[in-house]
Amino acid sequence: MEKELNELLENLTKELKECSKEADVLNVKSKYVGKKSRIMEIMSGLKDMSVEDKRKYGSLINNTKKELENTINNYLEDLTNTLDIDFDDTLDYEVNTGSLHPVTIIAKEVTDALKKMGFTIVSGPEMDTEYYNFEALNIPKDHPARDMQDTYYLDNNMLLRTHTSGVQVRAMEKYGAPLRICVPGRVFRNEDLDASHENTFFQLEGMVIDKNISIENLIGVMQELLREVFHKDVKVRLRPGFFPFTEPSYELDCSCLICDGKGCPTCKNSGWIELIPGGMVHPEVLRAGGIDPEVYNGFAFGLGLTRLAMMKYKIKDIRVFNNGDIRYLENFKID
Ligand code: DAH
Repeated sequence: MEKELNELLENLTKELKECSKEADVLNVKSKYVGKKSRIMEIMSGLKDMSVEDKRKYGSLINNTKKELENTINNYLEDLTNTLDIDFDDTLDYEVNTGSLHPVTIIAKEVTDALKKMGFTIVSGPEMDTEYYNFEALNIPKDHPARDMQDTYYLDNNMLLRTHTSGVQVRAMEKYGAPLRICVPGRVFRNEDLDASHENTFFQLEGMVIDKNISIENLIGVMQELLREVFHKDVKVRLRPGFFPFTEPSYELDCSCLICDGKGCPTCKNSGWIELIPGGMVHPEVLRAGGIDPEVYNGFAFGLGLTRLAMMKYKIKDIRVFNNGDIRYLENFKID
């Protein structure tokens, strides 16, 4: 008898520990001290016991019942004191954490890599003047290069910047030479939307101005940058390109990151992907920034952050970046 009563107390304590809601405790209560509980059964058996047994067990049984009740009531009191809400277990209380946008993640990776190489992050206005976006970059009015970038023009010679290159001259004016900056930012083009065209996307401008800078420096920085972002050595090659603000200008290709240069649909079986345009800063641009091209030179590049994010995360449709679909962003949750 003593053993059984002790076990009742022990089992009750164990079961209570599992209870996190008031309703659970009430279930346990009816099991241990309710009408059909074992202790009630034992108590109703008391009357049939011999006088000797009654004397021996009567108070033990009564005390055990009181102890069972006290234990349950104390537990219930503790529980309701700590929780002022009575949880409804039909609702899901899971905490929903947010996630970073894939372009934000890429921008951070790229700028972190550039910071390690001594670059400073600067920013410029999204609504800019024609002067900084075009003229200061050696693209006068009526220059055919303006057609390369379909522009949203605003009033008073203002526009939505078509590239982050506009910050080049602003930064030179503000900080002078030598200079090592990167400019992540949103840019705008008057484009019809489809799987590979957006009117709002992200670029990152890079520029280094110093003495005796060569194209080798540009290649070195690009290789280091791609190694940091893709965690592996990425082969690069240069092809001649044309931009009014660099001379000479290049298109930098990297070995296809999807197939490692073997050839796949993404690289159109060439093994190469056109990734980062750039070149040596044009002397006219240095002059516009108040820097003497006889003393200083430099390189610049314009990296498509949105494009890089598409490559890194193998995203086929550019429109997902701006459509605000939370289900899509949830794929980028950081645990
Ligand atoms: N601004 C160019 C674009 O949006 C990209 C670019 C090309 C930036 C060459 C540069 C550069 O700094 O040197 O298409």
